[in-house]
Amino acid sequence: MTRAEIIDGKLFAERLRAEIGRQVVRLREEHLVTPGLAVILVGEDPASQVYVRNKAHQARGASMASFEYRLPHNVPQENLLELIARLNADPAVHGILVQLPLPPQVDTDRVINAIRPDKDIDGFHPVNAGALATGGDALVPCTPLGCLMLLKHRLGELAGLRAVVLGRSNIVGKPMASLLLREHCTVTIAHSKTRDLADECRRADILVAAVGRPRMVPGDWIKPGATVIDVGINRIETPDGKGRLVGDVDFDSAVQVAGSITPVPGGVGPMTIACLLLNTLEAACRQLDLPVPSGLMETAWG
Ligand code: GUN
Repeated sequence: MTRAEIIDGKLFAERLRAEIGRQVVRLREEHLVTPGLAVILVGEDPASQVYVRNKAHQARGASMASFEYRLPHNVPQENLLELIARLNADPAVHGILVQLPLPPQVDTDRVINAIRPDKDIDGFHPVNAGALATGGDALVPCTPLGCLMLLKHRLGELAGLRAVVLGRSNIVGKPMASLLLREHCTVTIAHSKTRDLADECRRADILVAAVGRPRMVPGDWIKPGATVIDVGINRIETPDGKGRLVGDVDFDSAVQVAGSITPVPGGVGPMTIACLLLNTLEAACRQLDLPVPSGLMETAWG
């Protein structure tokens, strides 16, 4: 059996970020505008701290303005809502991201609903989720958008392909299914209550795994030649105590069967942040009534 092609999300994301950076510089030179991203972190969760630091760092790397807000884990909900209201009204801020998960005293839905939909660069607000589901103009959640870019880069036309999305979260599974449907795939969303999960997966030309269970999908669930997108980022214990990151797919067996596959790390993860910057650029252009740069993905890949 030949080994699958490894889809290099890290390289793709680097090129996309560089192209976004060029567009940001052009926006500043031609329209005197700098897209601004505000990131809010509540609490001290180590993984969230790393994500937030990366997001702010890469926004600056793409010549954007970056604003970071760190609030204590016991912050009253009202203070967080007040901060969001202030950022909603701030013309220097074009995108607002509240890092999830939030502590229990905060109602996550209320927080998401408080973000102005045109600054909701996560694409989580019901206005954006609804627009995506009904085929309207939406800010699209970053992880599924990154997955779609990798799929289109690898496969070109997706129409008519059978796609199975494992996982039904609002952040990945549902928007991923909407995006694939928009590309005219035949889409199945599978989840923990799905009967014959392995058989469903074996029918997929495109398999997107987003369940958060380390190495749950073995190679013999994969159709030979399928394209496999692994969204999972799971830390597992190792004998040396250092731990290591693995996906939702058992890479070693899957790589023997699939036609192409994203690795973990270095696959979907870097694309998520690149798409966050893309959404911030798009949000800035829309707020200022400027044309949204098109063809960024094609230019990025060259
Ligand atoms: N926590 C884990 N993933 C995400 C994401 O995509 N956006 C936000 N805001 N928080 C997250």
